[in-house]
Amino acid sequence: MKIGVVGLGYIGSVTAAVLASARNKVVGIEIDKTRLDSFKSGEPPIYEPGLKEILSKNKKNIKFSSDFSELDGSDVVFLTVPTPTVNGKIDLQYIFSAAESVQKAVTDAVVVIKSTVVPGTAKEVHKRTGLTIVSNPEFTREGTAIEDTRRPNRVIIGATDKKAVDIVDRVWAFTKAPVIKTTNENAEMIKYASNAFLATKISFINEIANLCERIPGCDVEVIAKGMGLDQRIAPYFLKAGIGFGGSCFPKDTAALASFARENGETMSIIESAIKVNDERLERVLKLLKEGAGGSLVHKKVGILGVTFKENTDDVRGSQIVKLIKMLRAETATVGFYDPKAKIELDGVYRFPTKERCVEDSDIVLVATEWPEFKNLKITNKPVVDAKRILNPRNFKSFKAVGLYT
Ligand SMILES: NC(=O)c1ccc[n+]([C@@H]2O[C@H](COP(=O)([O-])OP(=O)(O)OC[C@H]3O[C@@H](n4cnc5c(N)ncnc54)[C@H](O)[C@@H]3O)[C@@H](O)[C@H]2O)c1
Repeated sequence: MKIGVVGLGYIGSVTAAVLASARNKVVGIEIDKTRLDSFKSGEPPIYEPGLKEILSKNKKNIKFSSDFSELDGSDVVFLTVPTPTVNGKIDLQYIFSAAESVQKAVTDAVVVIKSTVVPGTAKEVHKRTGLTIVSNPEFTREGTAIEDTRRPNRVIIGATDKKAVDIVDRVWAFTKAPVIKTTNENAEMIKYASNAFLATKISFINEIANLCERIPGCDVEVIAKGMGLDQRIAPYFLKAGIGFGGSCFPKDTAALASFARENGETMSIIESAIKVNDERLERVLKLLKEGAGGSLVHKKVGILGVTFKENTDDVRGSQIVKLIKMLRAETATVGFYDPKAKIELDGVYRFPTKERCVEDSDIVLVATEWPEFKNLKITNKPVVDAKRILNPRNFKSFKAVGLYT
């Protein structure tokens, strides 16, 4: 098929690459010139394991452009543009603008909204443009996005037009994933409900972690393991830590809560999950203060990892970046090491190695689960493990989320 992908960010670039590797002819459209030039030069502007290689291997099947007229003749065009939450509410301007540009460029392509949008968006886009719209939400995780796109747990296809549903079904047939064909609104809601549920799971275990820190003999890691072996619960997203961040969970939970309020319902569980998450940083700050002997005033705090999770360079919505601001307000001096983070922080030193970061700090915070942090051994200074990846027995002075010490 000839397939267009509009918006070459974390999702669009992977979608384009995977569909090109499935022997489609792909046109990737991006309006940010710097990003576009990076793709054209073979150096993707984002770090996602395997992305550069798969793009290079399939370069004869993929063309990058800012010119929407290149989409002419496409069978399917995916919209993978941002859907940020602004003042607690979803902002659909990028979806509307991209759909209008596509409408001017194509004759009868099926247009697929892959971006995360509130129920009713597909209908509204159809009303504004007359385009046939299919809702096909994305569930991949940054860091494992290529594999997730090639082998998703499920493919959700929402639309009223049967022919359009069949075309999108054919696009993803190579994944052999179970397919749910439903209404646009169900497809849109499935994505929000899934993200809100996963975020709630994280906040749930973080509340258990808070309690464990007060009860001698309790360790949230062991409790999560014991819970997760129950197939009804499952171990995923049951990891206590610094709270959920990233470009999805914070904005999607906020957007769903406000969408619900607009529709006369209060999502008390989701609103509580957001509240518990907001409180995580105070909790980690408290552990750091305790680890530093009561105060962080003029202390040097070394942070290992600032991305919102491991195996990405993405710092959007990173809890750690927020924590750094709080630490500086405490007059602590902050430095960090991260293998990939795309960030510069005013007044915060970036160490070239984890060893230097540890050496030059009074207290060390492990904040991201990068594999290279797992074998850390420090004997001469306090450590706070906010991700529970270290063995407490390897340290003289050790504090961790969800562990009574
Ligand atoms: N990042 C994730 O892990 C993830 C996972 C599932 C779903 N999603 C959803 O996918 C969507 C995209 O997320 P992302 O993280 O890839 O965003 P992103 O910000 O990384 O990328 C979006 C890209 O779209 C481009 N763009 C904006 N308007 C455009 C237009 N009119 N024409 C062409 N290009 C345009 C931007 O310049 C940017 O490069 C969002 O709705 C997000 O919620 C993201």
